[in-house]
Amino acid sequence: MDTLMAIELRKSIRNYLPKPVETEIIAQLLRAGNSAPKVGFFHITVIENPEVLKEINDQALVQYKNSGDKLLMGPAAVEGYQPLYGAPVFFLFSAPFASPSNEATASCAVTCITIAATALGLGSCYIHSALLGIKGNPKLIEKIGIPFGLTPICGVVIGYSADESLTSPRSRFTEENVNYCR
Ligand SMILES: Cc1cc2nc3c(=O)[nH]c(=O)nc-3n(C[C@H](O)[C@H](O)[C@H](O)COP(=O)(O)O)c2cc1C
Repeated sequence: MDTLMAIELRKSIRNYLPKPVETEIIAQLLRAGNSAPKVGFFHITVIENPEVLKEINDQALVQYKNSGDKLLMGPAAVEGYQPLYGAPVFFLFSAPFASPSNEATASCAVTCITIAATALGLGSCYIHSALLGIKGNPKLIEKIGIPFGLTPICGVVIGYSADESLTSPRSRFTEENVNYCR
């Protein structure tokens, strides 16, 4: 797929088929992530273990419900809502600390991964809020295998979309947030 088409087709997918993602595709996505512009440091943990994914998801849901934040409590109150959307793969980014440069660098990598996933026919969604289910949970951090001293900073779920077409580009281009100095 043409790169510009993949960029336009990319959208956040929040419902996934319970279908594993091929090892070669995961490798291609990791290459895409590690090809992004980089100034800070990040480590990527590829989480595919269904029990660990469920634990992260369920812990996040509990945190959302108790957060006092309407933006999290609203979705969490919807029957069947899953913070990881049932995706079979979660790329979790961690770093020694959540500095702006580490977070910006990881976000660049996430963006490359989402575009590469789209080009390969997979759905993706940037994940930040669900980290609430991991942070402050040393047992879960150990189970995930995040290297010692690193803290989760962001993530992206990947999988085959259950219900949304990845074939129609959305025309979202607007000049409302643009100015020119020529
Ligand atoms: C920094 C950042 C954090 C995000 N965190 C979440 C998240 O925790 N959960 C989620 O479902 N989407 C998350 N998103 C995805 C946005 O909600 C989504 O990109 C936005 O609504 C635009 O929709 P689109 O991706 O379909 O174009 C995040 C996006 C960014 C850039």
